Amino acid sequence: MTTAPLRVAVLASGRGSNLAALLQARSRGELPAEFVLVGSDKADAGALTLAREAGIPTAVLDPRRFPDRVSFDHTLFERIQESGAELLVLAGFMRIIDGAALAPWVGRMINIHPSLLPKYRGLHTHRRALAAGDLEHGASVHYVTAELDGGPVIAQARLAITPQDDEQTLAARLLGYEHRLLPAVVSYIAQGRLALRDGQVLLDGRPLATPLQWRDGALDR
Ligand code: GAR
Repeated sequence: MTTAPLRVAVLASGRGSNLAALLQARSRGELPAEFVLVGSDKADAGALTLAREAGIPTAVLDPRRFPDRVSFDHTLFERIQESGAELLVLAGFMRIIDGAALAPWVGRMINIHPSLLPKYRGLHTHRRALAAGDLEHGASVHYVTAELDGGPVIAQARLAITPQDDEQTLAARLLGYEHRLLPAVVSYIAQGRLALRDGQVLLDGRPLATPLQWRDGALDR
């Protein structure tokens, strides 16, 4: 028996390299997903170009054309609902989403964040890790809740910070890990292996005590 591919919508504000990684994983046959929508708040986002090249429907909403954040988010989430998406992936979407708009999506919406959450929620994560003298840095994929970058963490990838690192090199090195971490998590979700119940991440039906770790090219408990 074959199961239908997971219908995935992606929101992205920027260049879209994480979207590209998802599309490449799908092309390689590693991701049983169908991309039904790429949405953005920036008309010039590279992610939109990638989506158009891949024949994926796009939605561009300019926040300046809405009276407030709530009405923007309401319209955006209407579009997402209409797309038939089963999973919503935030891949570099740089807006805070209204809690009421995202509430129906809790458990069906993930975000990739460039830090080892709960460290460094918000912006400038690489700079802050360097300033703190951290020896390691990383990326997290988490379920999105109304708390900014505060939802239950599903998986993380870690890398050692070297004395040569600056904000740019660290960001660039971490991005390479993000590109493997995000498709791996989406693939687990597409296989029905992950769920969120009562604020707890379940893997294969069992609570995950600590986030999965990206090790040796795979997700590991
Ligand atoms: C990625 O590093 C992602 O982790 C980060 O934005 C970048 C998007 O890059 N996301 C956040 O900071 C969310 N708080 P991309 O457009 O090339 O995928």
